[in-house]
Amino acid sequence: MIIGGGIAAYKCLDLIRRLKERSHHVRVVMTKAAQQFVTPLSVGALTNERVFTDLFDLGDEREIGHIRLSRDTDIVVVAPATADLIARMAGGHADDLATAVLLATDKPVLLAPAMNPRMWLNPATRRNVTQLANDGVRIVGPAVGEMAERDEEGVGRLVEVSDLVGAIETALAPELAKHRILTGRHVLVTGGPTHEPIDPVRYIANRSSGKQGYALAAAAARSGARVTLVSGPVSLPEPPGVDVVHVTTAAEMLKAVQAALPADLAIFAAAVADWRIASPRSDKIKKSSAGGAPALELVENPDILKTIAQSGSTRPRLVIGFAAETLDVLAHAKKKLKAKGADWIIANDVSAAAGIMGGDSNAVHLITSDSVESWPQMSKAEVASKIVERAAAQLNANRAAAE
Ligand code: CTP
Repeated sequence: MIIGGGIAAYKCLDLIRRLKERSHHVRVVMTKAAQQFVTPLSVGALTNERVFTDLFDLGDEREIGHIRLSRDTDIVVVAPATADLIARMAGGHADDLATAVLLATDKPVLLAPAMNPRMWLNPATRRNVTQLANDGVRIVGPAVGEMAERDEEGVGRLVEVSDLVGAIETALAPELAKHRILTGRHVLVTGGPTHEPIDPVRYIANRSSGKQGYALAAAAARSGARVTLVSGPVSLPEPPGVDVVHVTTAAEMLKAVQAALPADLAIFAAAVADWRIASPRSDKIKKSSAGGAPALELVENPDILKTIAQSGSTRPRLVIGFAAETLDVLAHAKKKLKAKGADWIIANDVSAAAGIMGGDSNAVHLITSDSVESWPQMSKAEVASKIVERAAAQLNANRAAAE
């Protein structure tokens, strides 16, 4: 989104909130004039992203150049589009970051003009708007009504935020349809750790944060799938559009997974505890006056991935497991692929030095029965999108082969 320098700029804060509520990712460029009306600080607090303001900020250019900024999006929204910004767009200027992005983009552009009615009706503005419309730029508004200036009214108000959200989603519809590669599919994901009780106050746990599983569920939902996420205890917000089933123990997780079948695709990202206490105590274990520690007898938990991968007629068509390893990552992961009967294993190094457990990024290998692909380090959200993309391609190829 490009925020122009008009009094209506403050409405962009509300627009960003509405878009985020609807799970859109918003990245903002502000013109110099826009910063007179709202601060990059407040915009950044709402988008949770850095706000871009300067074409010649070398730091910005190195991190994300203006060309990538202009393409790494589904749509460029200009609000409020001022008379000056419209004129500079129509003239093909590129002397600040906003106009450079607009000139370089290959994505749809949507303008929401807002200005004084006389400026809107001025022949120069009329000419520029006609030119931009002919160039394929979409324009929503302006609306009729009272202006910020006293005693001024007419055509020139920024359209209502809800109408702007509607116009953005209409313009985005063809682009979003391209991403909906899992429409009509049911995707089952496990995520997070499991907790195995020792007594009412103590339990066995592990360091899994659940971030990778939650990112996978969110990516599958964005791709149009119906998603069931069976989650162990984590402190993450539920991803929008995902059916989340909260469980605590491995046994509960297995039950919930079985109840959620059938599924087309199942991804087992949970760090399930391998063992549970044979007989958890119903009362808190007390320290003995004689000293010494209680002996804890462990029994093996059910292997959820293996159970589902070998479940015959209820087996999802594509079963993906993870392998958390600290040594000989590839060799162990290949063994797991066979032993568990999964179609793919996503292997990662979870040694403390790798910083994967609990962190925001991941470096993984995709292992199939006949290939190993090593992906560069990327965010867990990017890993999730890539896995979902690959899985969708595989499911669609299977379907095409069956037809
Ligand atoms: N998994 C599972 N149920 C279990 C244990 C593991 O579903 N009881 C799944 C995990 O979700 C993951 C895969 O199996 O997709 C491998 O998990 P990992 O912890 O790497 O391997 P383990 O089978 O536990 O083997 P080990 O601890 O010996 O490495």
